Amino acid sequence: MNFQQMLVQCGFSEAELNAGNLVINSPIDGSEIARIAETPLEDVRAAIAAAKQAFRQWRLVPAPRRGELVRLWGEELRAAKADIGRVISIEVGKIVEEGLGEVQEAIDICDLAVGQSRQLFGKTIVSERPGHRIMEQYHPLGPVAIITAFNFPSAVFAWNAANALICGDPIILKSSEKSPLSGLATIKALFRAIERFGDDAPKGLAQVVFGTEPQGRALVESPDIALVSATGSTRMGRAVGPAVAARFGRRILELGGNNGMVVTPHADLDMALRAILFGAVGTAGQRCTTLRRIIVHSSVKDELLKKVIGAYESLKIGNPLESGTLVGPLIDEDSYRMFADALERARAEGGKLLTGGERVHADSFPDAFYVSPAIIEMPGQKECVRQECFAPLLYVLTYDGDIDEAIEIHNDVPQGLSSCIFSDNMREVEAFISMSGSDCGMVNVNIGPSGAEIGGAFGGEKETGGDRETGSDAWKNYMRRTTNTVNYSSELPLAQGINFG
Ligand code: UN1
Repeated sequence: MNFQQMLVQCGFSEAELNAGNLVINSPIDGSEIARIAETPLEDVRAAIAAAKQAFRQWRLVPAPRRGELVRLWGEELRAAKADIGRVISIEVGKIVEEGLGEVQEAIDICDLAVGQSRQLFGKTIVSERPGHRIMEQYHPLGPVAIITAFNFPSAVFAWNAANALICGDPIILKSSEKSPLSGLATIKALFRAIERFGDDAPKGLAQVVFGTEPQGRALVESPDIALVSATGSTRMGRAVGPAVAARFGRRILELGGNNGMVVTPHADLDMALRAILFGAVGTAGQRCTTLRRIIVHSSVKDELLKKVIGAYESLKIGNPLESGTLVGPLIDEDSYRMFADALERARAEGGKLLTGGERVHADSFPDAFYVSPAIIEMPGQKECVRQECFAPLLYVLTYDGDIDEAIEIHNDVPQGLSSCIFSDNMREVEAFISMSGSDCGMVNVNIGPSGAEIGGAFGGEKETGGDRETGSDAWKNYMRRTTNTVNYSSELPLAQGINFG
């Protein structure tokens, strides 16, 4: 059975998979799996108009009822979990376990959003004036455009869509042109939920457009899109951020990471080893949260590296659909070139390759790009280390002094998404998570930097963009806040004691 036939088994029609000119290849063997129709720009504009119209109705539906739609979506995702997971594996190259894990993440955010739909609360504030009360309300914001990256096409879409929908906002999805089928499978589950939900869901509540930069730009620049939530590279963010700001729109940006792990003399090295493996090698190094730097104390460096290199050398690299595989392919040839270039730059800057860094399986998969995960020991945080390379390339840096020195090195990169420390020493741990510790949005202790749960707020500082999505109070980004001062007295006193006339 070829991949297109497998996709048909996962719920796509042949017509859908052969509708246009946007070629989709599977990174597993490089073969073509679909030709999707790009959405013409006038249709993108029509989708925005439909979303604007849908907003007028959806904002009036009580939030817990909106939550019911997301509950149904969660049901549909549960029923389709194996199929969507498989689509992700075929289209993105994730191993089976990680494809399923991504769909589970979409299910989890639906569950969270259902409960949240009953808790969209503001504060009540005491007034300085007699007979007055101040309160906040959160109201629906407007249409939300969700622009996703190739590597998390289902979960990151669901993070945004589940929150937006309970908050009263219609959504338009634009997936990465490298993995639109996974997003499509996920939004089709939502379409089924909408069908079951009935007339309360207006036409135009959830839509999808396909394409590349022009379709993205049409969404980003439209004054009718209240919020643009975009995940991708810092380069993409540099284009999207100013374009949204120019029209005073709202944005959520999740951009590059350069996630580090500090390993102190007080670390449990066996635990650190397991976290390094999942963090640096999982998803073939293609998570925004992937572990990219280890900052290890010189006293434990040799012992740690011996363990890590040993484990790296026994990793099963290959077809992600085969059981036992831990490392699947890179998404495409460009990605491989970036990996190879980064290795070269690292060597030129004094890096010593400790393991990996080779293209593998080129004989059996000449059109696909599998690599052996690389570890490079660097003589310091050189320029190459400061850049994100979206592949399994782990830099090792050493420190000799105390935790402050490790933190200094850790923070000395432009990105600020996720970070972690391995230490059983309370002082080191507290320093790392303190105000003078890691400057990232996510700061973990004795676990790796990737694989976050949806309950916390997800996102990071500096070139990562500064925004947050998923849990905690991230729902507030999808709503507009009003402050209401209510006078229930029969006087009209002014604030600040002003006497006017
Ligand atoms: C991403 O790579 O864009 O924390 C998202 C993680 C996952 C999400 C990754 N929960 O690794």
